[in-house]
Amino acid sequence: MGKIEIHGGYPLDGSVRIQGSKNALLPILSACILTEGENKILHCPKIRDVDLMIGFLKAGGASVYWQDQTLIVNTQEMQPVPLREQTESMRASILFLGSFLGRFGKAVLGYPGGCPIGKRPIDLHIQTLSSMGVAFEENQEEIIASCHGFTGEKILLGYPSVGVTENLLLAAAKKETLTEIIGAAKEPEILALCEFLKKAGVKISGAGTRCLKVQGRKILSPVTMQLPADRIVAGTYLLSCAGCGGSVYLRKAPIKDMGSTIAAAKNLGMEIKREGENLHGVMKSRPKGIMGMKTEPYPGFPTDLQSPLLAVLCIAKGNSTITEQIFENRYLILKYLRTMGAKIRLCHQEARILGCESLYGCQVCAQDLRGGAALVLAGMEAQGKTCVTNVEMIQRGYEDIIGDLRSLGARIRWTVTN
Ligand code: EPZ
Repeated sequence: MGKIEIHGGYPLDGSVRIQGSKNALLPILSACILTEGENKILHCPKIRDVDLMIGFLKAGGASVYWQDQTLIVNTQEMQPVPLREQTESMRASILFLGSFLGRFGKAVLGYPGGCPIGKRPIDLHIQTLSSMGVAFEENQEEIIASCHGFTGEKILLGYPSVGVTENLLLAAAKKETLTEIIGAAKEPEILALCEFLKKAGVKISGAGTRCLKVQGRKILSPVTMQLPADRIVAGTYLLSCAGCGGSVYLRKAPIKDMGSTIAAAKNLGMEIKREGENLHGVMKSRPKGIMGMKTEPYPGFPTDLQSPLLAVLCIAKGNSTITEQIFENRYLILKYLRTMGAKIRLCHQEARILGCESLYGCQVCAQDLRGGAALVLAGMEAQGKTCVTNVEMIQRGYEDIIGDLRSLGARIRWTVTN
């Protein structure tokens, strides 16, 4: 067992290349099931959630291997085997629904899991796929889905769910009649999946809007594609500079996908400059408090950066409020931030923060992926030493958070716990 040890209270000064996007890669790995031949996905992050997804593909008979940071995926030999083991360890396993149904007309899946940030129901997945003619049976252990040719021209989403939009795109990709997805999510990960499917031969219009029109094709070609950089990892590192002060260069950051994050960093008092594909952030003073922040579907402020922003607001000048509107249990780090000296009150889903001069290092435990990253950020801000345990949670989404933050000048290392 290991833990992350941080000596905080120092400004940052350094540069780092941003890893490929986890949340773009996971649906694209599922989409590989729909194509014939060898797919090449470049700039892939080597993280636990990707390892799990590769495991599911291999369990079904696919060939998947790494070539440096490129994943080579050939699903020619795949069979519609039931996927039961470990589906509960990752939410994205639900994304096999759309691709298994699109290719095989059936799917048997264990229930998905994920972080403890919310119940993470799958009712909208079932409801919308049923409106495309999919028949579902459910029991305690698994979801059994089947369809003999998709129907449905207009599919309406009551909420712009990212995963539901992805499953509908995967289901419609080989359906030769037009499918309109109304009320779709607009996250950059949806755009990346649309780019993959278009390269495979699917006609898609409206990518990046709330209304997607999909004209599928029976036979889809293999795809070579570079993943976009991870906007949440980039946002985590930008906010760490807002909290610690100093200067960071985020090389090949997905600047166009970071509008609301950059706006929040500027409201904290950061100077931000775009230099080609690099994002240069400078923080010369203590962050300013922000009232009325809310997490929203894209292009609003991302829920995945709510915890990192909270860690910065703890040491801001003045009061702040942030309301989590996407997940019902995404304040798991509050008790640890309070142990570090933060003054935070929670009223329903609104966190009210009284900025204090400093936090103080202590031992904390990662409860979820982005909360764990936020505790590392809090440790970098705090006076003294902070140890973060349960690091496996953070490794689900950050390829090398210690190496990256050391490149930015943080005094951080891995230690083995005896
Ligand atoms: C994706 O999760 C991301 N995960 C999440 O990132 C991200 O926080 C989320 O989108 C929102 O941006 C991946 O892409 C693998 P949703 P997803 O469906 O698709 C409710 C991270 O840290 N809902 O848009 O599961 C749901 O409970 C992770 O990288 C239903 O009620 O998100 C939530 O409250 C965490 N029923 C809200 O919608 C359903 O059937 C948003 O969920 C589906 C969703």
